[in-house]
Amino acid sequence: MARSPQRDIPPHRSVPCYPVFGQATFDGPRESPLPCLLDRPGVILTASGRVATALALAGFGIGPGDRVLLPSYHCPTMVTPVLHVGATPIFYALDDNGAPCQASIEAQAADNRPRAIVVAHLFGIGLDLRELRTWCTKHAVVLIEDCAHALFGSVGGQPLGDSGDAAIGSLPKFLPLHEGGCLVFKRPPERRPALTRSGMLRQIKAAANLLEAGSRDSRLGVWSRPLQALFDLKQRLRRTAQYEDGGATPRDGSSHALAAPVTVAPPPPANAWMDEARLRTADMARLPTRVTRWLAARAHRERIVALRRARFAEYLAHVRNLEGVRAAVPILPAGSVPYVFPIVVEKPDQVFAALRTAGVPALRWDRRWPGTPARPEDVATRWSHALLQLPCHQDLDCCDMGHILAICRAAAA
Ligand SMILES: Cc1ncc(COP(=O)(O)O)c(C=O)c1O
Repeated sequence: MARSPQRDIPPHRSVPCYPVFGQATFDGPRESPLPCLLDRPGVILTASGRVATALALAGFGIGPGDRVLLPSYHCPTMVTPVLHVGATPIFYALDDNGAPCQASIEAQAADNRPRAIVVAHLFGIGLDLRELRTWCTKHAVVLIEDCAHALFGSVGGQPLGDSGDAAIGSLPKFLPLHEGGCLVFKRPPERRPALTRSGMLRQIKAAANLLEAGSRDSRLGVWSRPLQALFDLKQRLRRTAQYEDGGATPRDGSSHALAAPVTVAPPPPANAWMDEARLRTADMARLPTRVTRWLAARAHRERIVALRRARFAEYLAHVRNLEGVRAAVPILPAGSVPYVFPIVVEKPDQVFAALRTAGVPALRWDRRWPGTPARPEDVATRWSHALLQLPCHQDLDCCDMGHILAICRAAAA
C-alpha cells in the first residue's frame, strides 16, 4: 500500500483558529498604523457580527417583505441576519477577484427591487466601493459594508467601513475574544439600537473563558501553570457534580465507576449548520461583556496589523512553489490586513481533510444557502468547492506556519 506523505510530518499541537489571549496581546505599540473600525465615531459594540448586521438592517427599517442582496460566496452567518429581520436574501455574483459583479447586481435589482445590499471585504482585502456607492445612492438601496474580515484597513486612503450607510465588524476574528461585533452608522438610521448590560454570571464566565484559553495555550507566562491547575480542578469538580447527578459513580467514593450507559448520539440533521448560524433574539439587545469591551479598546493593535501582513507574505512566498495550490489573492494591497490566507486547490476534499485531521482549522464555505444560484461565470461557484481559508492571525508562530504549509505540500501534490 502507498505510504501517505502526511505520515512523514512530525506531530504538532492544534493550531489556534483565532487569536488567543496572552501576554503578547499587549506587546508593541497600541496604535494601529491603519484605520480600525472600532475607532469610528459613534461605534456600537454588539454581541456578534451577525447581530450587528441584523441591527443595521433593522435600523434602516428593513423587514418583512423586503429583499436584501448578498454575495453568492458566503457563510451562513451572513444570511441569517436577513432572515432574522424577516427579509428575503437574493444572491449576486462575484468576479474572479471576489469583488461584487456590477452587472449581476443590476440584473438582480431589476428583477427584485432590493432595499439593501451587503458587500463583504472578503479575507480582509479591501474593495473599492465608489461605483457601487454611487449606484446605491441613485437607486435608494442601503449599502451595508461587511467588515467582519476587515476590522482594519483602507483603500485609496479611504478607511474601510466609510462607504456604506452602515458597516459591521466581528471582533474574535482579530482580537483575542470569544464574542463581540461592532456597528457603525454612517447615515443616521431610523432606529438606533438600545442595548443593555449582561448579568454578572455572563461577565464572570467571559473573563474566565479568556484566561482559560490563554493558560491552556501557555500564553500567560508564569500564570499559565497555576491557572491551568485551577481550571483543571474546576473541570474535575464539574465532572464529579455530573456523576453525582447522573449516578454513574458510586457515592461511597470507590473508584469502581459503574459502566455508564453507552449512548450513541444520533447524527445531526442535514440542515443543522443553518440552525447553528441563527441569531438568538436575546443577543440582539445586549452589549458584549465588560471584558470584551475592555479588550476591544486595550488590545495593542500594531502587532495585529504587522504580524497578519507578515504571515500573509510568508504564505504567498511559499505557495508559489506548491504543486496543486494557488493563492486566491496574488498580492496583498498596502492598506489591507488579512483575516485568512485563501488558497485555491486542485484536490480540495483531500487537502481540506488532511488539514483538519492534522489540527489545522482551515475553513471552507461549501454550504451555500438554499436558493443560491450556481452560475458558471460566478467565482463563488468554484470557490465554494475549491477555496480553503488558512489561518493568518497574529498568534500563530513559525512552527504553526511550517506545519500548515507542510500539510498543504504533502496533501495537495
Ligand atoms: C463575512 C462575514 N460576515 C459576517 C460574519 C458574522 O460574524 P460573527 O461570527 O461575529 O457573527 C462572518 C462570520 O464568519 C463572516 O465571515
